[in-house]
Amino acid sequence: MKGFPLLCLLLLFGGQRSSACPHLCSCHGSQVNCSSRSLHSSSLPVRFPAGITELRLHNNRLNHLPNGLLDDLTSLRSVSLHGNPWVCDCGILYLRAWLLRQPAALASHLGVNCSSPPGLRGRLVVYLTEEEVLESCHYWYCNLALASQVCLFVFVAVQAALLLALLVFLRRFERLSKEARRTKEESFTAGEGLRENEYAPLKDSSI
Ligand SMILES: *[C@@H]1O[C@H](CO)[C@@H](O)[C@H](O)[C@H]1NC(C)=O
Ligand SMILES: *[C@@H]1O[C@H](CO)[C@@H](O)[C@H](O)[C@H]1NC(C)=O
Repeated sequence: MKGFPLLCLLLLFGGQRSSACPHLCSCHGSQVNCSSRSLHSSSLPVRFPAGITELRLHNNRLNHLPNGLLDDLTSLRSVSLHGNPWVCDCGILYLRAWLLRQPAALASHLGVNCSSPPGLRGRLVVYLTEEEVLESCHYWYCNLALASQVCLFVFVAVQAALLLALLVFLRRFERLSKEARRTKEESFTAGEGLRENEYAPLKDSSI
């Protein structure tokens, strides 16, 4: 029961926040106007009020649309996205998928064209094939995969080299200690022999 006022406050605050007009935009009823404000993908509001019907995002500096940004806006009737320098790499897949889900009558895709990479400049985002988009992403995925493979290989190679060095060292150590033992035995028996030889004449002369 103690948490109830807190919950109310949270709900009130959360409710207020989700229905408030996003920072940097102007709102008129259920229409949200964020156009011509030099918005970058990073300065875009992280969420919009749930019940909005119109969203203007045109003539900004948007490269990508953050994943999931428009998913909860079930009442949207129109979105304007033209006049942005869309970058058609992996990051464009969300926008493309969202555009593909829209009824053709809304024509949200008009003027939503790529500004880069050069090979795709001017192409409408909605008509890009998945292969075309993925081609531009392969690079860093591949590089990452390749780098990790190379790292793994170097790691294994170093391990193998260390193991080999250890084996060689052990072999040499074994051989050295065997040799040392042998020379010790040899010098011992040689010394004995010498002593016998030394004593022999003495023994002989004493007889
Ligand atoms: C939206 O905002 C821009 C920039 O402030 C303004 O120029 C434009 O007239 C507005 N559009 C509407 C329909 O209110
Ligand atoms: C993108 O579309 C707009 C509106 O149709 C057009 O003015 C612009 O020139 C196009 N951009 C490119 C790079 O083709």
